[in-house]
Order: sequence, then C-alpha cells, then structure tokens
Amino acid sequence: MPFAFQLNNNATGASLTNDGTMEIDFKNDNVATWTEMEQQIRSGLVRSIGLSNFNVKQVQKIYDSSKIKPAVLQVELHAHLQQNELLDACRRMNIAVTAYAPLGSPAAHNHFTGKYKVDMKVPSCLLTNHIVQEIAKKYNKTTGQILLRHLVEKNIIVIPKSTNTKRIEDNFKIFDFALEHDDIMKLNNLDKKEDGRIFDFRFFKGIEKHPEYPF
Ligand SMILES: NC(=O)c1ccc[n+]([C@@H]2O[C@H](COP(=O)([O-])OP(=O)(O)OC[C@H]3O[C@@H](n4cnc5c(N)ncnc54)[C@H](OP(=O)(O)O)[C@@H]3O)[C@@H](O)[C@H]2O)c1
Repeated sequence: MPFAFQLNNNATGASLTNDGTMEIDFKNDNVATWTEMEQQIRSGLVRSIGLSNFNVKQVQKIYDSSKIKPAVLQVELHAHLQQNELLDACRRMNIAVTAYAPLGSPAAHNHFTGKYKVDMKVPSCLLTNHIVQEIAKKYNKTTGQILLRHLVEKNIIVIPKSTNTKRIEDNFKIFDFALEHDDIMKLNNLDKKEDGRIFDFRFFKGIEKHPEYPF
C-alpha cells in the first residue's frame, strides 16, 4: 500500500484512534520501505516482491529508484474499472498486474459500511449486468466466468474470492473458451474509469489527505 498506519507497539497491528479507525502514518517513505523489501530477497526470506494500490507515478518512482524491480502490482480491476493507463505502464516496466475484485466485489459495500460505518457509493452489479448476461448466455457460461475470461485474455492475473465450492470451481473453468472480438469490445465499453472504483479506501478516515494517497 502506498500509505501506512502507525504501529501499535503493544500489538501486531495498527494503533487505533478514539473512534476506532486506524491511525494514519502521514510520513511513510515508500522508497525506503522498498529498499527493506529488496533486502528480504537478498537474505533469502522471500522470492518476489510487489506493490498494491500504487498509481502510475508511484509505480514509476519505485521502478526508477530500485535495484530489484517490482514483480507484480495488485490493484482493483474489473469491467467497470479497466485501468488501461496503469496496464500500459506496467507492460512497459515488465510488471505483472493482478486484478483484485475482478467480479466487482459484490459484497464490499455491505462489508465496509457495516464495519466502518461509512457512506460508500453502491456500485452497479457486474454479475447481473445485462450485457454480461447476454454474453454469458451465448457461450453457455456464468457471468462470473465471462468477467474473469475478459481479464485473463488481457494477460491480467485474477484473484476472485469465493466461500462457495461450486463457484470456486466455476471460477477456474475459464480456459476452455475464448471471447470473440465483438464481445471483448462490448465488455471494454463497460469501463467507467474512475467512476467505477469501489475501493477508494476512504473508510480509513482522513486517508485522502495522505501525501501518497493514490487516487
Ligand atoms: N490489495 C488490496 O487492497 C485488496 C483489496 C480488496 C480485495 N483484495 C483481494 O482480492 C480478492 C477478491 O476481492 P473481493 O472479494 O473484494 O471481490 P470479488 O472477488 O470480485 O468478489 C467476491 C464476491 O463475489 C462472490 N462470487 C465469487 N465468485 C462468484 C461467481 N462465480 N458468481 C457469483 N458470485 C461470485 C463471492 O461470494 P461467495 O463467497 O458467496 O461466492 C464474494 O462475495 C480478495 O480475496 C482479497 O484478498 C485485495
């Protein structure tokens, strides 16, 4: 993450403010953190290191200042937030991209409004989107499989989460078909750019004032 939290020295997590939200560290230095992460590779403790939720400028800064380059960038990426600029930049830097929330995270809204008591916009549901439904019908696949295949065809790694055995199995069955060009274009046209973002992390109160807030 490009922003960090104050450590609670008596516990393993972040220290909390009076209202229960995490206390933000406004002075974290991402280049210094990356240098420490490189050290973990040199000492044989880890094999690969990467970034999450960094924007293009922030990725470029780490890339330019590092000896060991990021292997991967994990960001929110789905049909409503296709991140084309970030994808191009990562391709140029030879950094793999992992899409989190690749199905549009249908449970996120309830989870975060419940946990942090914040006002979050309700994203429109990709799994029941009528264009995705039409395409799913054509290929005899689920809407989830269409959404995942759309990303995998662009060489994006997907990490759909499910607690349901059948859906976990279904989410793997995306390598026995290919989307036709017209259908890829229809899915590409679902991009809402920044308006499609669900995870703006504003449930950490005041995070948007952090100098490294990425969005
Ligand atoms: N780096 C970060 O900052 C960050 C932020 C957010 C998330 N993530 C990671 O990304 C992963 C995925 O994100 P996410 O869980 O927010 O979003 P997601 O994978 O887009 O959506 C998961 C939700 O979709 C449902 N689902 C899964 N497969 C389905 C299918 N085939 N058909 C219909 N519904 C389906 C799941 O419900 P059921 O369990 O009932 O199937 C679950 O509620 C998480 O495991 C998390 O570790 C990373």
